[in-house]
Amino acid sequence: METGPTLPGALDASELKLCCAAAYQSGWARLLLGESFHPGGLALTERLGTLLGLGPGQRVLDVAAGQGASAIFLARRFGCEVVGVDYGGDSVRKATEAAERAGVAHLVRFEQGDAERLAFADMTFDALICECAFCTFPDKRAAASEFGRVLRPGGRVGLSDLTRAGPVPADLQGLLAWIACIADAQPVDQYARYLQGVGLDVDLIEPHNEALSGMVQGIRARLLGAELLVKLKKIDLPNANFEQARALARAAAEAVKAGTFGYALMTAAKPD
Ligand SMILES: C[S@@+](CC[C@H](N)C(=O)[O-])C[C@H]1O[C@@H](n2cnc3c(N)ncnc32)[C@H](O)[C@@H]1O
Repeated sequence: METGPTLPGALDASELKLCCAAAYQSGWARLLLGESFHPGGLALTERLGTLLGLGPGQRVLDVAAGQGASAIFLARRFGCEVVGVDYGGDSVRKATEAAERAGVAHLVRFEQGDAERLAFADMTFDALICECAFCTFPDKRAAASEFGRVLRPGGRVGLSDLTRAGPVPADLQGLLAWIACIADAQPVDQYARYLQGVGLDVDLIEPHNEALSGMVQGIRARLLGAELLVKLKKIDLPNANFEQARALARAAAEAVKAGTFGYALMTAAKPD
């Protein structure tokens, strides 16, 4: 039987969303993750766009768009119109500036909003993507229901997310792990059930575990680099707790190696 998530510490759902948004709009996110905040980077975003059959004239919603890298990429690569929504106001501002710099502001715009309560009319979009973020939504059922609501009949969803096989190790259950998309990662079939539960037909599930291994290795290397730069006083990272970050990255790398965590891409369609 599906049970509700255990939220870390004494945080309620909106505090958790705020913490997550704050982490991904901070300087840390770019420093540790680079431009794109999900395993597989823009190559997996391109795969998702191809599977969804995106093209000019289509209206696409990017739910939890972060600092906008995927939305901007999709507009450039496929010529579609993209609206990106993120909980973090600062992320929305940075994404808007990035779209202007990239010369795609006529195709892409960003709004602050909550995936669990989207501020769009029913059947507004032809396609919707959500990359490495569904796992962080405290109310996954509400978010899935919003996906189904804002899509037009025949519209398609592309989800990519962290997957879990077996229980989450105890050292990966805290707030930092939640923000890092680990603590409430779901078995791949459970993601499919969330989409099916709102009437969407899941038509493809594709494992991309190697993308997660690559990302975790990259984060560990970048952490070492950042620590060195702070020691050399080349950069300033107030409140940086490298020991905690290193321990989390080490535990995550072990869990990925043991097969506890993976990454998967999934597409689904709303029946006509
Ligand atoms: C791992 S990042 C992924 C960002 C982007 N999708 C990407 O792949 O580059 C997770 C994002 O989810 C956003 N987020 C978390 N909870 C949210 C919610 N309830 N509604 C909208 N965005 C949310 C965070 O602010 C953060 O930008």
